[in-house]
Amino acid sequence: MSGHGTPIPMTSTPCGPLTGEANVPGDKSISHRSIILGAMAVGETRITGLLEGEDVLDTAKAMRAFGATVTKHDDGSWSVQGVGVGGFAEPEGVIDCGNSGTGVRLIMGTMATSPIAATFTGDASLNARPMGRVTDPLALFGTQAVGRAGDRLPMTLVGAVDPVPVTYTTPVPSAQVKSAVLLAGLNAPGQTVVIEKEATRDHTERMLAGFGAEISVEEAPEGRKITLTGQPELRPQVIVVPRDPSSAAFPVCAAIITPGSDVLVPNIGLNPTRAGLFTTLQEMGADLTYENMREEGGEPVADLRAKFSPNLKGIAVPPARAASMIDEYPVLSVVASFAEGVTDMQGVKELRVKESDRIDAMAKGLRAAGVTVDEGDDWWTVTGLGHGNVPGGATVASVLDHRIAMAFMVMGMASQKPITVDDGTPISTSFPIFEGLMGALGAKLST
Ligand code: S3P
Repeated sequence: MSGHGTPIPMTSTPCGPLTGEANVPGDKSISHRSIILGAMAVGETRITGLLEGEDVLDTAKAMRAFGATVTKHDDGSWSVQGVGVGGFAEPEGVIDCGNSGTGVRLIMGTMATSPIAATFTGDASLNARPMGRVTDPLALFGTQAVGRAGDRLPMTLVGAVDPVPVTYTTPVPSAQVKSAVLLAGLNAPGQTVVIEKEATRDHTERMLAGFGAEISVEEAPEGRKITLTGQPELRPQVIVVPRDPSSAAFPVCAAIITPGSDVLVPNIGLNPTRAGLFTTLQEMGADLTYENMREEGGEPVADLRAKFSPNLKGIAVPPARAASMIDEYPVLSVVASFAEGVTDMQGVKELRVKESDRIDAMAKGLRAAGVTVDEGDDWWTVTGLGHGNVPGGATVASVLDHRIAMAFMVMGMASQKPITVDDGTPISTSFPIFEGLMGALGAKLST
């Protein structure tokens, strides 16, 4: 299945209890970074648990185009033979990052301080997303960028020949922007500093330290200040990619709204920069518990147990939590539809520049399914109907956005009538086993 080809509608029909174990795929953010940092190391990085979704496969293809050797082995593991910091070759063709904002923005950063040019493109969703947020700070290193109006792809970057280190305060809470600047800083002499006013996911910082870079993080008055010393020799790593909390969100939320359900979602990373949804669900009254809490690779990990929760209440989600659950608002808005009262989501402007305008896409689909949604530029509210009262019975647009498609499939499991998305193929960008995994739990999905 492909997110770039012929649309294939997918329908979710109300189902009985969801039960069993949901072994969700590897973390998308960590998978991209494993391949990119592996490509910047000297020697062979081994990776197990890699997410083999289209987004990550596009990043693997891109790293090959820049000269790294990326191989999938018979046992399912992957290896990356890196070219070293500053060792990128100029790609012969156009770099197509498909649907992936993370892929293109991190790769732009990585090549920006090498004396090579590269042209980037993507699908219709990616080509509509703003790239100025990355090319603006990269210009400070000496990188040139020419794209379409509004700093959109296709876009060509000419890397800085004599890069200078940069100090940059990110104007939006974005791990992609922060990561692009840090990755560019790898091949600049001296210290590159990124300051973020709100903490975003910190996988780049943790992994750069793991690969042997000199990097420090301090809480300064102006925000979270990250200092990286350029031109290190990165040492190859053995990486076990943890399972993706953003993918875990779908079986967890499905179990919470579907009567009689009891689902275990093992081995989920609970890095505080990613786990905001689970706290929010607990505050809404969801029966969601952490079992077997432990630490793996320096990160908190637990098995999540989610059970049907008939008495959910709408809440005001604290804006300060937004960055730690930014990808989870679509499925949260589905859970909110089954709660009593209003769920208020503020400070979420970034949702408008994801794979789709996620406030707009969810509002349209939720309304078509009988739910009241109000929205402004950086906020939206969902007025819940309570368990058993969500009509459903709609066909909604997934607008090339995997998380919109999956959120509506979850909704169809517990609404009164089925829900159809006009195209289920984008799901394969991050969760290629979604249909089979949810089906094995008891969901009724059909294409
Ligand atoms: C990601 C950062 C987030 C998130 C995306 C993955 C990353 O995007 O939405 O799915 O891996 O760095 P922003 O940086 O735009 O917030």
